[in-house]
Amino acid sequence: MKKKEFVLGIECTAHTFGIGIIDILKKEEGEKAIIFNKKNQFKNDVGMDPRKIQEFHIQNFDKILREAKEFLDEKKIGFEGLSLISFSQGPGLGNSLKIAGLVAKTLSLKYKIPIVGINHIKAHLEIGKMLTKFHDPLFLYVSGVNTQIIAKDEFGKYKIYGETEDIGLGNLIDSFARLAGLDFPGGPIIEKLAKKTKHYIEMPYNVKGMNISLAGIFSFLKQQLKKGVNIEELSYSLQETTFAELMEIAERAMAYTNKKEFLIVGGVAANKRLEEMAKEMCKIRNSEYKSFPMEYAMDNGAMIAWEGYLNKDKAKLNVENLKPENYINIESEI
Ligand code: ATP
Ligand code: FE2
Repeated sequence: MKKKEFVLGIECTAHTFGIGIIDILKKEEGEKAIIFNKKNQFKNDVGMDPRKIQEFHIQNFDKILREAKEFLDEKKIGFEGLSLISFSQGPGLGNSLKIAGLVAKTLSLKYKIPIVGINHIKAHLEIGKMLTKFHDPLFLYVSGVNTQIIAKDEFGKYKIYGETEDIGLGNLIDSFARLAGLDFPGGPIIEKLAKKTKHYIEMPYNVKGMNISLAGIFSFLKQQLKKGVNIEELSYSLQETTFAELMEIAERAMAYTNKKEFLIVGGVAANKRLEEMAKEMCKIRNSEYKSFPMEYAMDNGAMIAWEGYLNKDKAKLNVENLKPENYINIESEI
């Protein structure tokens, strides 16, 4: 009989503190292997003040930790029964990363469980791969901060093939929503408004080879709002323009890398119009598009547990040299 393995992952790179637990024996069963995934998210409509976020996590992390303990005790696993603890070591806000590290190291020391620090961005990609059973996809990673086209190169290393040269698409949408007096996060609201019209307003379209630039659209939207142009039409046109830009660079990267699978990760992946365009692009390219539940596309603990498992050979019982790595990217060693 195969030995039971349970991996616990701790996410805390920015606004979310999350814990996920994966039953490795069930890893071929996709979502069923994720036996626990809970999180607490800091929400604030005036932006992200790192000190306020830290305060929020310090006040709240124990709730999720207690729920994880209750779950493990009920299943007769306990913290003692874990085979590995992983945590997001970076990139992210220093204040949040410290909390992920502190909780993970304390558990590791108390229960003598091997620990590994992992790259949060790789975790976003790998959980998508695990849940869709894709083998070697091209990724579009679109969150608040990030807008990147990523895939593995011929040596099996993740590489950035294209990206925004200035702001991330999520941030552009949220900033536009804020200017228009709408709530945070703007993405879902803008998506709803966009559905109400098909009137396209032409706006700057900045594709530069494999990269895009979104700052020009933001200035344009600011001017249009000042002029009193209809918000539904602006929302519709904003989506049509930026999503078309993303599909153009994604398609170019698919052709360049010869990938046949396409996956979108990050918060903006929730957008149905973006998904529709992705399906169209893949159909034309004779490639496959798959999505997976949004719960795992946003920051969450399960993706950290899975990436921890993939890096279990680097795990150790010694918690030294596991300091926050605020500025790593997908091409970094971790
Ligand atoms: P990361 O550290 O991975 O960059 P993040 O906090 O920047 O994380 P996510 O939590 O992955 O980003 O995504 C949040 C973003 O997704 C917000 O900018 C939000 O407006 C956007 N978003 C959420 N739902 C939708 C939607 N339906 N359409 C467009 N954008 C959306
Ligand atoms: Fe993230």
